[in-house]
Amino acid sequence: MTQDIDEQIDTEGQQVTVPVEPRAEGVTKVLISERDIQHEIQVIARELDEEYANDTPLVVGVLKGAVTFMVDVMQAMKIPLEIDFMAISSYGTSTKSSGVVRIVKDLNAEIEGRRVIIVEDIVDSGLTLKYLLDLLKRRNPRDIRVVALLKKNKADAIEVQVDRAAFEIPDEFVVGYGLDYAEAYRNLPYVAILDPSVYSNPEES
Ligand code: IMP
Ligand code: MG
Repeated sequence: MTQDIDEQIDTEGQQVTVPVEPRAEGVTKVLISERDIQHEIQVIARELDEEYANDTPLVVGVLKGAVTFMVDVMQAMKIPLEIDFMAISSYGTSTKSSGVVRIVKDLNAEIEGRRVIIVEDIVDSGLTLKYLLDLLKRRNPRDIRVVALLKKNKADAIEVQVDRAAFEIPDEFVVGYGLDYAEAYRNLPYVAILDPSVYSNPEES
C-alpha cells in the first residue's frame, strides 16, 4: 500500500513529511518540523520562566501570525502571566511589507511600569517590529523583550531589537504555524515553503 505523503529531509537530516491534506495544498517543503518547533518552545519557556520568576509579565501577541506560537509558549511557561493582543496592518503586497503600519487593535492593558514580552511570528525587514517597539516604549513599560518565532537572514533588514528568535531562516517566503499567504496555511503545525506556482496564480492571491 502506498502512503499518502511526500517524504522530505529537514535541516538536521531528519525525515519529515508533508501530509497530503487540504490545508497543505501547494506546500512543497517542510522547513521547520512540528517536533523542532515544539522542542524549541520548551527551551524558550524555561528561559522566560527564569527571567520573569519574580514578576507577572504581560505577554503581547501580535495578531494574527503570532497566535499559534504565543499560545504554545505561554502554556509551556510555568510562572503566572497575563496576555494581551495587538493587531497591526502593514501596507504592502501579500509577500512584502512596506513598513507603513496602522494599529487595528491596541492593547487593553496599561503597560506603564510593567514587564512586557512581545511575541512576533517573523521579523523580515524589521519595519513592523520597529514601529511597534517605538510605540510601546513611549508608554514607559519597565522593560520590553521581543521573542520571535522566525528571523529572516536578510542583508537589507534594519537594526531592530530581537532578544530571542526560535529559528533563523533564509530569505524565503514561508507559511504555516501562524504564518499565512493570502490568509491560508496558518493552521499548518510546521513552517513550510510554498510552490512558486501558488504566487504566480492570480486567483490564489
Ligand atoms: P516586516 O515588517 O518586513 O518585518 O514584516 C513583518 C510581517 O510581515 C510579519 O509579522 C508577517 O506578518 C509578514 N511576513 C514577513 N515575512 C513573511 C513570510 O515569509 N511569510 C508570511 N508572512 C510574512
Ligand atoms: Mg502577516
